[in-house]
Amino acid sequence: PHASLTIDPAFVVGAIDRRLFGSFVEHLGRAVYDGIYEPDHATADEDGFRKDVIELVRELGVSTVRYPGGNFVSGYRWEDGVGPREQRPRRLDLAWHSLETNEIGLDEFARWSAKAGTELMLAVNLGTRGVQEALDLLEYANVRSGSTLSDLRVANGTPEPHGVVLWCLGNEMDGPWQLGHRSADDYGKLAAQTARAMRQLDPGLKLIACGSSNRQMPTFGAWERTVLEHAYDEIDYLSCHAYYHETPGDLPGFLASPVDMDRFIESVVATIDHVRALRPGRRRVDISFDEWNVWYVDRYHEEDKVTDPQVWPIAPRILEDSYTVADAVVVGGLLMSLLRHADRVTAASMAQLVNVIAPIMTEPGGPSWRQTTFFPFATTSRLARGVTLSVDVATSTYETAAYGDVPVVDAVATHDASAGETAVFLVNRSVDSPATVSVDVRGLGAATVAEAVTLWDDDVHARNTLDHPDRVGLRPTPSAAIDGGTLRVELPPVSWTAVSLR
Ligand code: AHR
Repeated sequence: PHASLTIDPAFVVGAIDRRLFGSFVEHLGRAVYDGIYEPDHATADEDGFRKDVIELVRELGVSTVRYPGGNFVSGYRWEDGVGPREQRPRRLDLAWHSLETNEIGLDEFARWSAKAGTELMLAVNLGTRGVQEALDLLEYANVRSGSTLSDLRVANGTPEPHGVVLWCLGNEMDGPWQLGHRSADDYGKLAAQTARAMRQLDPGLKLIACGSSNRQMPTFGAWERTVLEHAYDEIDYLSCHAYYHETPGDLPGFLASPVDMDRFIESVVATIDHVRALRPGRRRVDISFDEWNVWYVDRYHEEDKVTDPQVWPIAPRILEDSYTVADAVVVGGLLMSLLRHADRVTAASMAQLVNVIAPIMTEPGGPSWRQTTFFPFATTSRLARGVTLSVDVATSTYETAAYGDVPVVDAVATHDASAGETAVFLVNRSVDSPATVSVDVRGLGAATVAEAVTLWDDDVHARNTLDHPDRVGLRPTPSAAIDGGTLRVELPPVSWTAVSLR
C-alpha cells in the first residue's frame, strides 16, 4: 500500500494539552503495593517508593496521574488512608475482592506523584458517599490550614496543601457493577450538586463528570445527554473510557481500534455540543478520556474473584496483561486518535501505569521493565508538542467486521512553532505488506529528519517479559529521508512509526 499526505503548519486542529499524556494508578492488584511502593526493595527511597519505577514513569513522560480509582473509589473512605499508619483500618475492597491495608493514602501518593513529576488527578467517591465527603476531602487536600481537616493534614506531616485541580466526580456510575450505580438522572443531579459545592470552596477546580463506561453500554449517548442536562454549567469535562483487545483471528480488526476511538470521541463531542446549543453562553465542555488502553478484559472473570471475604488477598496479581507488538501498535494509534481530537480532548489517562494493564511491570525484590506499549507512549509524549495539524491521508482501505472500511495507513502530525519542530506519527495496519508513505513537507521550509523510530517485529505477538525484558524495543527507521520537499518513509507491516523533523 501507499499513502500520501501534506503537512502545512497553517492548518491547525488545536493546541495539545500536556494533560493528554496522563496515566492512572488505582488501588487494584499490584499497582500500588509491590508496584510503586515496596519498602523492602533495593531501590526503595525513604518513603518506600521504588526509585527504578519512578525513573521509568519519568521516562514514560506521564503528565497527570488519576488516583485512587477506578471501581475502587466507589467504596473508598479517604480518611482510612491518612494519619498514623499503625492506626489505619484494613478494609474489604468490594470492587476487586481484595484486602486494602491503607498503607498508602492521599498524602503518600501525592508525595510519590511529586517525585514522579506528575500532576495529581483525584477521584471522589460518589458510589457509597456524597457531597459532604467530597467536600471533606477537598478541605483536607487543598485548604492551607486553620480548619479542622486542613489542620489534620498539617498534623499528619503535610504542611503544604496538595493543590489538586483535577477532580473526577465518581467513576463509571452508569455501570451496574459499580458500587452505588445510579441512573443518569440521579447521577447527573448528584454530580451537579457535588460540583457546585466543591466550587463554593475552590472555584478554580477542573471537574470531570462521568460519561459512559464504554461505547457499548446500552445507555451510551442518552447517559451523556442526561448527565450534561443536569451538570453542563458546573463541569469542565465529560469522561470517556475505552479498552480494546485482539480477538484470535482478527488482527486486522484489532488494528483498526483507533477508528472506534475516533467515532466514540466524535459522538460524545456531538452530544456535548447539542446540550451546549440548548443553553445560553459559550462555555465549552471538553472530553477527559481518562481510561483508555488495550486490556484483555476476557482474561479476568468475575468468577475468578475470591468469594470468601475471610481470605481476600492483599495486592493479588490480577489484570497483569503482557503486551505484544500488535498491542503497542494499537496503543500508538489510540494516542494518534487522541491527538487528532486535541481541540476537544484536553485530558486523558492511559489505564493504568504499573503492573495492572500497564506499560511498566515490576517483580517484588526484582527488576522493573518496559512493556511494548511503553515505547509509543514515551515517544509520543516526548515528540507531540505544540498543536495538532489537520492532515488528510490518501490511502487504500480494508474491510473490518466491526468498523466497516478503514484506512490501511493512519497518520497524525504535530507542530511546535516556537521550537521549530514537527512530528509525524504513522501506523501501517496491513498485516502482510509494507507501506510507502510520501509526505509533502514544503510548507515547513527547509526541514530535515531529526529522528525516526519504528516499533515492529517479525513476530507481531512478541513481548517483553521478566526473563526477556528487552525482547521488543524501538528500531531506527533508515528509510525516512526528505528529498525535494517530500518526506518518504517505508512502514513495515503492523508497525507504528514516529518521525521528528526540524
Ligand atoms: O482500569 C480498570 C477498571 O476499568 C477501572 O477500575 C474501572 O473504572 C474500569 O472499568
